[in-house]
Amino acid sequence: MENLIPNEEPLRQEYFMSEVNDIIHSRAMDKGAYPTYKVVTFGCQMNARDSEKLSGILSGIGYTEAENEEDADLVLFNTCTVRENANDRLYGRVGQLKKSKEKNHDMIVGICGCMMQEAEEVEKIKKSYRHVDLVFGTHNIYKLAEILFDHLTTKKQIINVMESADMIVEKLPNKRQYAFKSGVNITFGCNNFCSYCIVPYVRGRERSRKPEEIIDEIKTLVADGVKEIMLLGQNVNSYGRGLEEEISFAGLLERIAEIEGLERLRFMTPHPKDLSDEVIEVMKNNKKICKHLHLPLQSGSSAILKKMNRVYTKEDYLNLVKRIKTAIPDISLTTDIIVGFPGETEGDFLDTLEVVKEVRYDSAFTFIYSKRSGTPAAKMEEQVDPKAIKDRFDRLLKTVQDIAAENTKKNEGKCMPALVEGKNEHMEGYLTGKLENNLTVHFKGQERLIGEIVDVILDEAKGFYYMGHIKTSEV
Ligand code: SAH
Ligand code: SF4
Ligand code: F3S
Repeated sequence: MENLIPNEEPLRQEYFMSEVNDIIHSRAMDKGAYPTYKVVTFGCQMNARDSEKLSGILSGIGYTEAENEEDADLVLFNTCTVRENANDRLYGRVGQLKKSKEKNHDMIVGICGCMMQEAEEVEKIKKSYRHVDLVFGTHNIYKLAEILFDHLTTKKQIINVMESADMIVEKLPNKRQYAFKSGVNITFGCNNFCSYCIVPYVRGRERSRKPEEIIDEIKTLVADGVKEIMLLGQNVNSYGRGLEEEISFAGLLERIAEIEGLERLRFMTPHPKDLSDEVIEVMKNNKKICKHLHLPLQSGSSAILKKMNRVYTKEDYLNLVKRIKTAIPDISLTTDIIVGFPGETEGDFLDTLEVVKEVRYDSAFTFIYSKRSGTPAAKMEEQVDPKAIKDRFDRLLKTVQDIAAENTKKNEGKCMPALVEGKNEHMEGYLTGKLENNLTVHFKGQERLIGEIVDVILDEAKGFYYMGHIKTSEV
């Protein structure tokens, strides 16, 4: 039998999907129902997209989606490990499922994603969480069917974590969370090694997908009703490195924007150290590309940026913002900021506040520095006093919120296109849409507009969101 199994991907996974499908089908015949699954996702957009791929494989082999994890026949936790104590929360939930497994003996529990790339976490599961059946990492999510097959046929705990990625496997199924928008990976991994960050260690070296694979995927998504695409990579600007064909991120953006039927194009995350003038130019000249840039600052102090290994100074960042705003005056800028990096003084923090006030972000994710073991910064002395961090964090948040409120206020009365994402769960008869700048607007409208782009008048700014009404007679 062994020599019937293809070695080539994705043929090998197609083989295992078909094998598992047979097992699931014959069990469903006995039980009178197909089994259910729940994928629980932590972390960033990369993980969200990976979860869509995992869901696609599970749907493909006969599972249907469950409402919640306690009732599912298969639960898969797709983990994040960017902050130090993320594992406490995870193991609490994994522990809870022991009880569910006592009631449902066929229940399968799996853990995958970034945290599973850490050897000590896998050891902990082997030792203390014997009820976990599947463990795999970030480099082999495409192997879910094979890993599940191994478990179903042996009943053993299967641990299959790869230290690095051997290849990019294309053309596997996926099941989207939204019908009308989708993330699309353009690069995997990261080579930047910012000194506080674990991502390069758990996601491996940077790899770019071939442009034709990306374009094919987007064309397929658009044909399936997708209006908005978000290109995903830890540093999208370095797209193209290592590919046979010479292509830059700017070139890729231009080629994607030509795809007929695609209405909106976004990307995450551009690293400020190498956002090129070509990218700014392409954004300026292309109506489909959202006039929004998420440009992580991390710190406004050049000394701290150096210790963070961000490879830009406060002045470089402000110059870049100036170039962007000169080319695209109505650009919306958002950012990530870390407070309390080792050695951060009050003066360093004031530099951060100064940049925030000068750039005037529409919103910002603010993080308290987490001493992430395994990163160079965790070994740095001069960890900052938690009281000082809390005080700085509160001041930063207040500044960010005040500026965001002033920015949104300025747009009151304007008409902007919004992609209608769904019903507003709290207000009867209201819909929720996303503007080009990624801010939310709530307005009255019929459910049939979900997935459409409609013009909305922004009546009232409420800090990070708006209340509005539809301009046309489509209400
Ligand atoms: N590749 C992206 C960020 C990925 S991680 C970039 O370079 O911008 C998302 C965010 O988590 C980072 O921007 C950073 O602000 C935050 N982060 C990462 N490691 C952290 C740590 N150890 N403590 C606090 N915040 C951290
Ligand atoms: Fe982490 Fe820096 Fe890579 Fe972003 S660019 S994922 S912050 S190492
Ligand atoms: Fe993302 Fe968390 Fe992994 S931020 S890349 S899911 S460590």
